[in-house]
Amino acid sequence: MEKSISHKEVPTAGKPSTPRIVSPTASKMHALVYHGAGKKSWEQTLKPVIMEPTDAVVRILKTTICGTDLHIMKGDLPEVEEGRILGHEGVGIIEETGGAVSNFKKGDHVVISCVTSCGKCEFCKKGMYSHCEKGGWILGYKIDGTQAEYVRIPYADNSLYAIPAGSDEEALVMLSDILPTGFECGVLNGQVKPGDTIAIVGAGPVGMAALLTSQFYTPATIISIDQDDNRLQTAKIFGATHTINSSKENAVDKIMQITHGKGVDTAIEAVGVPATFELCEAIIAAGGHIANIGVHGKSVSLHLETLWSRNITITTRLVDTVTTPMLFKTVQSKRIEPQKLITHRFKIGQIIEAYDTFEHAEKEKALKVILEN
Ligand SMILES: NC(=O)c1ccc[n+]([C@@H]2O[C@H](COP(=O)([O-])OP(=O)(O)OC[C@H]3O[C@@H](n4cnc5c(N)ncnc54)[C@H](O)[C@@H]3O)[C@@H](O)[C@H]2O)c1
Ligand SMILES: [Zn+2]
Ligand SMILES: [Zn+2]
Repeated sequence: MEKSISHKEVPTAGKPSTPRIVSPTASKMHALVYHGAGKKSWEQTLKPVIMEPTDAVVRILKTTICGTDLHIMKGDLPEVEEGRILGHEGVGIIEETGGAVSNFKKGDHVVISCVTSCGKCEFCKKGMYSHCEKGGWILGYKIDGTQAEYVRIPYADNSLYAIPAGSDEEALVMLSDILPTGFECGVLNGQVKPGDTIAIVGAGPVGMAALLTSQFYTPATIISIDQDDNRLQTAKIFGATHTINSSKENAVDKIMQITHGKGVDTAIEAVGVPATFELCEAIIAAGGHIANIGVHGKSVSLHLETLWSRNITITTRLVDTVTTPMLFKTVQSKRIEPQKLITHRFKIGQIIEAYDTFEHAEKEKALKVILEN
């Protein structure tokens, strides 16, 4: 491919370094650009181009907003540079592919994984795509993301999934992140088993994804905890046997009542604040598993003075997306119906309003929002 000499490379800080190619003749698009904590705008910027032969450029059809984007906007991830296009979820159509992409071609319909993976490095070979030496979670974090009209996807062969004709695109947007996250970081790491008693702290889209996928293993009791009554009501519809509004009742006391003083076999943390992790520490049964999902911006107290003798495990995980192909089948066969998590739909140009709705979820009765291009 010919590389114009009028291009100049603008290096960006952080690793991996991802220079953005700026050409005076480059075509333009609109995108949601982060300008530091609390500041963002929907603005005109450069349309991405193929930079490596393993890249694809995808025209976004549908994208969404993650709780992690809210953490970025709060300043919990200060390493995100000003000028970054946010977003790591979506479905789209391939606009262009680099010469080394063999699984996809222009016009193919794809799900974009929130994790980019080369499929070849030591971590990828271990199934730990999240720590791919050349990728991992970079989209909308270290490189420009999906809350845009177009996005560049590195290592397209391993980071995109083909969408069969006639599929429900909105359901598949949930495969980019929330379903593998709830399942891998929450359910698998939490070792949920038949008959178990589990607590899921946080009834946002990720907590709901853990709720839906935990039921593959038929736990006997599922306690959903949040401060938002509307989300708790939805959790009941999706299979929670008990719900607790922790801003109105004492969650520890209530869980101890439900579990006859034993605590829960698995406590899944799907919020990302110290109080909710500490709640998990307070309710875990002997031999139990605390599975952290939340992105944390502050340190949390580890209560070893009570936990040292309890035979518990604590796990953390950045979603690897290794279960995406399996989850894809469960969505296609309607064993789970994640599109039911969608409460609001916007045109992509209304993304500022969509952020506002997702941020004020209780007032707006919002769960997952869809942005359509
Ligand atoms: N580990 C990973 O790979 C990974 C991937 C994706 C998302 N995440 C993280 O998962 C978490 C959840 O994401 P989401 O999209 O569902 O976010 P969200 O913001 O929509 O949901 C968080 C929920 O927590 C509730 N909450 C807030 N404070 C609480 C408290 N003190 N007690 C009880 N509930 C409280 C809110 O009402 C809300 O319903 C976030 O921290 C996100 O960054 C992690
Ligand atoms: Zn996310
Ligand atoms: Zn890799």
